[in-house]
Amino acid sequence: MSDLFRAPKGTYDVVPPFSELWLTVKDALSTPPRMAGYGYIETPLFEDTALFVRGVGESTDVVSKEMYTFNDKGERSLTLRPEGTAGVLRAILENRLDRGGLPVKVWYSGANFRYEQPQSGRYRQHTQVGVEAIGSSDPALDAEIIWMATYAQRTILGLQNIRLLVNSLGCHQCRPAYRNLLTAFLRTLELDEATQQRIEINPLRVLDDKRAHIQELLVDAPLIADHLCDDCRAHHRLVLHYLDLLGVSYELAPRLVRGLDYYVRTTFELVHTGLGAQSAIGGGGRYDGLIETLGGPALAGVGFGLGVDRTCLAIQAEGLSVGESNAPVVFVIAMGEAALDICIPLVGNLRASAISADMAFDSRSLKAAMKSADRSGAKFALIIGDEESKSQTAVIKNLLSGEQSTVPLDLVQETLTK
Ligand code: HAM
Repeated sequence: MSDLFRAPKGTYDVVPPFSELWLTVKDALSTPPRMAGYGYIETPLFEDTALFVRGVGESTDVVSKEMYTFNDKGERSLTLRPEGTAGVLRAILENRLDRGGLPVKVWYSGANFRYEQPQSGRYRQHTQVGVEAIGSSDPALDAEIIWMATYAQRTILGLQNIRLLVNSLGCHQCRPAYRNLLTAFLRTLELDEATQQRIEINPLRVLDDKRAHIQELLVDAPLIADHLCDDCRAHHRLVLHYLDLLGVSYELAPRLVRGLDYYVRTTFELVHTGLGAQSAIGGGGRYDGLIETLGGPALAGVGFGLGVDRTCLAIQAEGLSVGESNAPVVFVIAMGEAALDICIPLVGNLRASAISADMAFDSRSLKAAMKSADRSGAKFALIIGDEESKSQTAVIKNLLSGEQSTVPLDLVQETLTK
């Protein structure tokens, strides 16, 4: 046999039984937005490259280093989406969803592509469940978004070791003055060349540097919290007040700066303490001004993206048993042609009445078929041989207790339901 193909570097397959956890996580993360009146949106996996350059920001690692960009046969520069927000905003504007009632609230789920150095929790294809709410600056909306992000993780999935970090990054009014102050401070420090370059591109990102010796140098750095304008301070205070009302526990994180350029005011990150370096299991914030940058009207916006891959890792790290098994209720075994003619429609009818059913294929012997029944995880085996075919009955065996009984075919459904 020649060498088998492998999944591309930095990607992995979602296969059973892990895929049950995966599906449960995706479902749990999308439950709060569905409960809160958010509509579902799905956009293409690739967009015009310029959308991400403008929308995510040229100075970000995502755009400058990590995009999967290619020319199609019509010489258009396209990019596999590295994140969801830019494409969703484009779709809202293109489909004129912003011309109806505001805020427009949507949720989405899907793959994103970033050419990153792969490691545990960091992949070249990852999946997010996200939301975007457009057209309102109300701090109650920021609080709703943060509540949704944490409710799924903490309450539905039952994760314990999660910290919610919240900050305000100020706005286009107050941030420039703060940025100048911070830049002046950072230029006085002895820093490596890459960090010095980062000061000139986006000094706020330096605050977020995780290296201990850099953090030591930054103890006296000016913090945005002390330089917010009155409006931003009032907005921030109300967001925190509403989080208190909602019973969402959080920590103020005055150095939290996220990796994408579009954030203003509220920013937040969910961090899991059991995941090592790639600890952010979700994050988001406000991006008032971004829609204008994309050529749309001056509408505010706020949203989040939750990482499905890392949330699964967090659940595994906490040893939680999440994810329904997809084992069928009943495993049907037909011995002989006549029995098969009964079993094939029987399996169809069971499934149609929401009793999950699997059946034995290619079975040469009852013993082999019973082995398949055990392996399937089904609660019951239903066996029909020549004798049962003739008498229009079936043997139902409880695979846990070993008990079995013979029931008329027209009572099979009723017996299993009981
Ligand atoms: P982000 O922080 O870049 O935000 O990504 C959101 C989440 O996706 C991260 O917290 C992490 O859990 C997961 N994630 C990101 N990159 C990777 C990777 N390489 N491997 C595994 N998981 C990853 C955004 O993308 C924003 N669009 C969120 C947002 C929506 N802000 C406002 N609206």
